[in-house]
Order: sequence, then C-alpha cells, then structure tokens
Amino acid sequence: MQAETNDKMEKIISLCKRRGFVYQGSEIYGGVAGLYDFGPYGVELLNNIKNSWWKENVHARDNYVGLDSAMFKDPRVWEASGHTKGFSDPLSECKKCNTRIRVDKELEKIGIVADEKMSEGELNKIFTENKSKIKCAKCGANDFTPVRAFNLLAKSNLGDFTNAGDRPVYLPGEACQGIYLNYKNIIDTVRVKIPFGVAQIGKAFRNEISPRNFLFRVREFEQADTQFFVRPNENKEAYEKIKRERWAWYLSLGIREQNLKWKQHENLVFYASDAWDILYNFPTYGFDEVEGIHDRTNYDLTQHMKHSGVDLNYTDPQTGEKFIPWILETSMGVGRVFLAVLSDAYTEDEIGGESRVVLKLANHLAPVKVAVFPLLKNKPELVEKAREVYKMLKKEMTCEFDDNGNIGKRYRRQDEIGTPYCVTVDFETIEEGSGVTLRDRDTGQQERVKIEDLIHKIQNS
Ligand code: GAP
Repeated sequence: MQAETNDKMEKIISLCKRRGFVYQGSEIYGGVAGLYDFGPYGVELLNNIKNSWWKENVHARDNYVGLDSAMFKDPRVWEASGHTKGFSDPLSECKKCNTRIRVDKELEKIGIVADEKMSEGELNKIFTENKSKIKCAKCGANDFTPVRAFNLLAKSNLGDFTNAGDRPVYLPGEACQGIYLNYKNIIDTVRVKIPFGVAQIGKAFRNEISPRNFLFRVREFEQADTQFFVRPNENKEAYEKIKRERWAWYLSLGIREQNLKWKQHENLVFYASDAWDILYNFPTYGFDEVEGIHDRTNYDLTQHMKHSGVDLNYTDPQTGEKFIPWILETSMGVGRVFLAVLSDAYTEDEIGGESRVVLKLANHLAPVKVAVFPLLKNKPELVEKAREVYKMLKKEMTCEFDDNGNIGKRYRRQDEIGTPYCVTVDFETIEEGSGVTLRDRDTGQQERVKIEDLIHKIQNS
C-alpha cells in the first residue's frame, strides 16, 4: 500500500495514475524517464484544452489560419534554425555512479545563475569553483566530469538507407519550424495579408538530460504555437495585445489569477527583441514557465531564405514594397498547461460531513460532462430508464453510466475526475414521470429536472 502524503503534487500524480489520466511511458518494461502516456480521462482533458486553444487562436479570429506540418523535415531546417549547433544543455557526469546532471540547474539550486550564453570554458570555471557544494542526487559524491555541451536534438534514420546512419534526420526540437517552412505556401494559396497569424499544435522532442517534475520537463511533448507575421518594426503594439490575449485565455480555463505571473527574459538570445514567459504556481515546484511569448524579429525567415535559397520576402499588394516580416511567437507546452489545470482544480473538501477529493474543472474542460445512475441496481425499471437517459445524453456530450456501489461512492468517483453533473433516476422518475435529480459537483446540491430539459440545462450552466 502507498504511504499517505501531504505533498499536493504527489497526490495529483497519484490521482493521475489511479484514475486513468496519465501513465508512465512503457510502464510494463519498467518505465522510461521523461515519457508519459495520457490515459482515457487524460486524453479527454488534453483534447479539451487543445480545442479551447484552437477555437481561441484560429476560429475566433479573422486573421489567423491553422496548420499541421510533418514532424520530419529536411535536416537543413535545423541548421538554419541554429538547433544543430546551439541547442544544447551543459552536461556533467558523476565519476562514481555515472549519473548525469544538468549543470545549470544544479548551479541554480545553490543560487548561481548560469547564463545560457556562457561558453563551455566559462561554465567549467564556475562549476569547478562550486563543485564542492554540489552533490550527486544518487550516490552523494561530489566528483564530476568536466562540463560539455550536450545537443538536445533527437535523431532518426527515416529515409536514411546508409547502414551507418550517415544521413540522420531530426525529430522536431520545437514545433514552430513547420510554420516558417509553410509561410510562403500559405501566402500563395490562402487569402491572407500581413499582419496575419498561423497556429499549430505539434510534437517536440528534446533529449533532456534530467527529465523531472512529472509532466513539467519531459522528452516528448506537445507545443501549441502561434506565429504572427507583422511589418518590420510594427511589432510593439501587436506584441502587447498578444500578451493580454494569452493571459485572458488562461483565466478562461478557470485558472486562478493569483497563480499566474509574468517573467521577462533578462538575457535575450541575439536575434530576439523581447521575450516574456507566463508562469504558473505549481504545487511543490513553485512558479515556472508554461508559455513563452517571443518577439523573434525577422530572424527565422531570414535564416530559411539564406539556407534554402528561396525568396521569402513579402510583397505588399498595395504598395509593391518588399520586406521580410517580423514574427511574434506564442509557444505553450500543452502538458504543462494540463498539469497547471489539474493543479488549480485539485481540491480536498467536505460535503455532507464526508471528506472528498474533487477536481473543480471548468465545465468545458471536464473529461466527462455528466454521469447517469439508477438509484438501485437491482430494480430493472430504474436501470432501464437510466439507460434510456444515458443514451440520450451520450449523443450530445461525454457521459458515463454507473450502477456500481452506493450513490455516495458513485458521486465520489465522478468528483475525483471532475464530472460537473450527476443524474439519478429514482422511483419518482418512474412513477410520476417527474424527472430526475441533477447534482452539482461543487455544491453537492440537487434539483429536480425534467428529462427533456436535461441537455439544455447541462450545456448552458
Ligand atoms: N519555439 C519556441 C520554443 O520552443 P521554448 O521556451 O523552448 O520555446 C516553449 O518552449 C514551451 O514548450 C515552454 O514554455 C514549455 O511550456 C514547453 N516545453 C519546453 N521544453 C519542455 C519540456 N522538456 N517538457 C515539457 N514542456 C516543455
């Protein structure tokens, strides 16, 4: 039996496993670090988050279009983007037990900020000076190898028919590159004019040295990105508007504003003109990044123009003026937002004198919208009627039928997965045709609702 814990994140992780939200990747083989699978309720929540994002960023806007680009790309893409050379983390190994550590993160723990732009030599100097304060998490020794830059791109041999794997292609280190590659296609085939945006949800893979904190730092994850193409130097106002809109979207998920925070980057990468992160206050881990909003200037298109030889200038249809657009990016980790949503919704309270765990998820995010119960399992007339109601509701929304155990237990099961409503078919339903009881997840209050009014009532509250 698992030991009781007071750590909120541990409780959330345990609920994720116990109730089919998230499983460790390849668990029956012992599990693989940094890989997770989303279970039946998890995939519903994940899809609801992505649908809400897509609706907001594509369907609700006039000047944004969607895209779904192939994950594999010409390897030159990652040279143009700078990933083959510069996309690395500083790695060192414990000489005693070979455990790998990410040096910048270890230095951070003892209050030393290792700047992303530091050379290997500079980093080695700081690391050597401070090594005595850093202990291997596994064996406790503090004898480490010199720091080396470890590239995070994952390689594949797709389309490489050399035996030695001499012509590797890369899995995407970030999802957004597909948007830059299709910028010209979109302009040529869809009636968009600058300023316009392209939105995409895609997978990214990073060979993280030390994946950690459950879904927070993993090796395979999804990014939901928008790239907004603007005229050079017409970036400031649009950037501020994008920031406001992204903040508002998090509130629309039901996340409490006090758990969100802005952080501006102090050390910008050389091509960026501004960068802000939205941070969420994760239980146990504290405030950390869920999304980056970056002003990338004209760097990406300039690089791809140089490396592909294709003219990526935009021609203003009115004036004939040519220019390379600047790009304002929003890049959100879908798994991190999933964890933020769960963290914000996870509540322990008391209802009718009984303690319970409840996920107070926004209705539009809940994996199951409604559950239907016959009051008693051994009364065929109740079961039959409840099945009828269940069938009716299931056509319109995600719905579960449950006749197992007493009603209180059934409520608890639905509370734990965040189901906003439970419908009970009882004797009154049969005898008088007077409707069913509809129970609200958060208050536990029940009201009588006519069967024909149920769909409207659930969908509109
Ligand atoms: N195209 C820009 C880009 O990739 P990033 O800050 O490296 O920027 C964007 O990543 C978002 O992707 C982050 O804010 C974070 O939410 C998510 N992310 C990055 N690395 C991750 C990892 N190893 N595990 C889970 N999510 C990650």
